[in-house]
Order: sequence, then C-alpha cells, then structure tokens
Amino acid sequence: MSNPTATSAPQDQSEQASSASPRLIRIFDTTLRDGEQSPGASMNLAEKLEVAGLLQEMGVDVIEAGFPIASPGDFASVKKIAETITESTICGLARCSDKDIDAAADAVAPAKRSRIHVFLATSAIHREFKLRMTPDEIVERAVAGVKRARNRCDDVEFSPEDACRTEYDFLCRVVEAAIDAGATTINMPDTVGYTTPREIYDRFMMVRNRVPNIDKAILSAHCHDDLGMAVANSLAAVEAGAGQVECTINGIGERAGNAALEEIVMALKTRSDFYHCNTAIDSKRLVPASRLLSKTTGIQVQRNKAIVGRNAFAHESGIHQDGMLKERSTYEIMSPEDVGFSKTDLVLGKHSGRAALADRAKTLGFSLTPEQLVAVFEQFKLLADKKKEIYDGDIIALVQQKISGS
Ligand code: KIV
Ligand code: ZN
Repeated sequence: MSNPTATSAPQDQSEQASSASPRLIRIFDTTLRDGEQSPGASMNLAEKLEVAGLLQEMGVDVIEAGFPIASPGDFASVKKIAETITESTICGLARCSDKDIDAAADAVAPAKRSRIHVFLATSAIHREFKLRMTPDEIVERAVAGVKRARNRCDDVEFSPEDACRTEYDFLCRVVEAAIDAGATTINMPDTVGYTTPREIYDRFMMVRNRVPNIDKAILSAHCHDDLGMAVANSLAAVEAGAGQVECTINGIGERAGNAALEEIVMALKTRSDFYHCNTAIDSKRLVPASRLLSKTTGIQVQRNKAIVGRNAFAHESGIHQDGMLKERSTYEIMSPEDVGFSKTDLVLGKHSGRAALADRAKTLGFSLTPEQLVAVFEQFKLLADKKKEIYDGDIIALVQQKISGS
C-alpha cells in the first residue's frame, strides 16, 4: 500500500537511489543473548533450540546464540545451536579477554558459518569507573581481542560498548584500529538507550566520514529502549548507512529491552518507499515467533504492541470499521496476513457501527433484513454498554432472539 504524500530518506549517505535496487539490511537477532538477559526470560537448551530453529526459518542472517563464558549451560546451548542451525551465521559473545574469546570460539566452532562478537567499553564513564583503563589501553586490548578472535571463526564483530556516549575522536580511533585488526562488522551500541534518532544519525555519518578504512566493515546498530526510542534510533542508523540491525523478538532484553525485530522488519518493508531497504525476513513468521517466545518465557506482549499485539489489527470504532469494510487501506497500512495473523479483527464493542454488526452476523450465517438489523443493533448497543467486548455467542443470541421474536 503506497502513500502518495510519502517523502524519501535523504539519499546522500547511502548508495541507493530510489530507482536502484533496495539495500539489504542484515538482521542480527540477539533474543537468545541480550533478550535472555531480560529478567525472567531465561530459557533451557530445548527452548533455545526451538527458538533458534524458528529464527532460521524466518531468514535471520545472524543468530547471537549466547555468551559462552557466562555459564556451562550457555556454552552448551551455543554449541548445540552451532551444530544444528545451517542457514544463519551463529555468533557467540565475548569480552576482550582470552578466556572469553576461547570459550566463544569453541562454542561456535561447529557452525557452518561462525562469528565471534567481541566487545569492550569505550565511553569515558565506563573507562574511568568500570574498567579503570586509559584510552591507549582500551585500544590495545580491543586490537588484541579482535586479532585473537579472527583466527578462530569465519568473521569477527567488534562493539565499542556504550558507543553512543563515547567521544567522537576516541570512537573513530577505536573503530579504525578494530577494522585494521580484522573486524568486518562494527557495531555501535546505544548500551543504555540514551541517544536520539538525530544524534545517532549524526554519529553513524561521522564515523562513515572520518574513519578511513570504514568501507572494509559493515556498520551495525544495537539500540536499547530505555527512552522508548530503540526502533526509531535503529532506523535512523539505517538511514545513515548501517547495514546490520541488532534486535530481539518482542523487543525483550536488558532493562526496557532491545529494538523489536518485528517492528524493524515491518518498518523497512512497509516504508520501503522511504528507506529503500529490505531484509531477508519472511514477515509471515513474525506472529508465530512472537507467540513462541511468549509461550517459552511466559512474558506476554501488551495488547497494543505494534505488529504482533492482539489489537495491532483490531478495529472497534464504527467509523473505522465502516471504512475497513469499504476499503482496507483506509485504516490499515499493512495487512495482518503479511505478519502472520489470519485476518483483520473487527472487534464489536460500544463504539462499533451497524455495518460491522451486519458483517459479523453475515459471517455467522444470518442475513438480516434492514428492520431486523435496526432491532438487533438497538439491543447490541444496550449490551455493549455493559460488556467490554461482545463475542460471537452474544451476537448469535441477540439475532436469534430478534428473528424468533419478529
Ligand atoms: O548493549 C550493549 O552494549 C551490548 C553489547 C554487548 C553489544 O549488548
Ligand atoms: Zn545490548
């Protein structure tokens, strides 16, 4: 569905023009690593394997399967996923330490395509208070970590943790050194969900413009949702040339969570006229993935959650329902079938109109005369004032009452 008033993302920073083929954005899913760091979201091996299988079927490019040094269980599940999954790259997280990197390397070794994701904090706050290291020591350790990892897997990703609060000059210095050491993906995380869309856009553009060897690496965004801007920030990074986005199913993750995979994918798809990008994700698997994760973790998404929430394609107001019955694009910018729902839900409640009631009655097998419809509608409104939601059983009872009584 297109929007005639749509504008396009500025073209200066990306290679694609609106006529050129769309730029492919790699989806790096970290549900099994950062997502599992969500309080209450821990999963056992069998559960992780099931989620990994669905991520593979969905077309996820990279699955971050865990943090192998964290526990024997984490190591075992990353290894099992690496042995089982064949279509996605399997990634293990490691701090810049020999023990971490060796554990990650051993765990991802069986993968058809393996990645080690090494990270080291770079912001002044982390350098001074957490690591107690000088900038020179940080660069030295980042380079050593990337070099060690590069000989033990197919490709290395490096993350300057807290990149979005790191001084520009120092960030450029670390990024350049990590690429020289062999990192082919540079992820610039907004570790504490602090940045804004305009700010992250500027930061990514700055790195692209100032780091001389940047073309040897893919830039990646990894945004947390502390201020509710993880998806908007990720998309702004894409506008600034990021070629990979890190995200999780249902947006689970540390604290307020990570950018939600389903929202990123559908924003890029629905607004391809603006972003000129696509992903390899089969969007019809978004709802099944969301449900599997909720079932596995016990963490339900709110009803109005974008894309996968129960209300995401539900319309209650009479005006909207009437529009929908005439032409879906009046109030729907995506179709529910596209994300894996079976259909649009015209919910009957006190805001609903006659058109929706007639439509539901027809679906339930009743063809009402105009007079019958008026009478049923009157009773329906009285009932709707008393109940939050009207079910099919209520409609059947009202119609049968009226038909047998008339
Ligand atoms: O949020 C973060 O900085 C992380 C890193 C490990 C990439 O999750
Ligand atoms: Zn994170």
